[in-house]
Amino acid sequence: VPVWLIVPAAGQGRRMSADRPKQYLPLAGETILACTLARLHAALPEAKLVLCLDDDDAWFAPGQVPFTRWQRVAGGAERMDSVLNALRAMPANEHDVVLVHDVARPCVTPQDVRALASAAANNADGALLAMPVADTMKRATSDGSCARTEPREGLWHALTPQGFPYGRLRRALEKAQASGARVTDEASAVEALGGRPRLVSGRRDNLKVTHPDDLALATAILAAQDD
Ligand code: C5P
Repeated sequence: VPVWLIVPAAGQGRRMSADRPKQYLPLAGETILACTLARLHAALPEAKLVLCLDDDDAWFAPGQVPFTRWQRVAGGAERMDSVLNALRAMPANEHDVVLVHDVARPCVTPQDVRALASAAANNADGALLAMPVADTMKRATSDGSCARTEPREGLWHALTPQGFPYGRLRRALEKAQASGARVTDEASAVEALGGRPRLVSGRRDNLKVTHPDDLALATAILAAQDD
């Protein structure tokens, strides 16, 4: 089946407090965006890429895209709106596999991307990369004390990519948007329709670059992966 990649890259990344959207910060002699796209391209060179970018993006350059087949779509107010813009614009068929990957995760390995793509192709409810929670989890009170400890058994961190059959994902996100639900990943929209996306154990170094410290971490991770 044809495989599509949606990369939402229309966020501002305000938590980075940088002079530009975080996907254009330098990493390993490139930009974060170029590093992320290189990993995806190494895994799935034949995939068709849909890149969600802000209309006012002054930093993007087409030379940063290694894919031969790709299109640009406008971002939306929230991440899910950006992904929906992509789903509405791309000429995909019901059963095509669609992988969504955060531009802010440049350390994903091609092996993990391929494992996820294969799980997504074999599950009607799709699949996501994830990792089991290692820390003890606290529920906070509004004033920042411990209200209680949440059992961590069975708790996973949701990573990306997440992959689904095109029709299933589009209906789930259309419904979430129409109902005003704010979903922060694709799997939760599918779950809201009763779906059970498959958890695929992914590498722990699939970091989401969010805070200023994360750039040094991502640099170290990429260097260690090259060894
Ligand atoms: O800010 P955060 O890292 O949570 O955003 C997750 C992903 O969604 C990023 O890749 C970001 O560029 C993207 N995004 C988007 N459109 C928005 C908000 C975020 O494409 N309106």
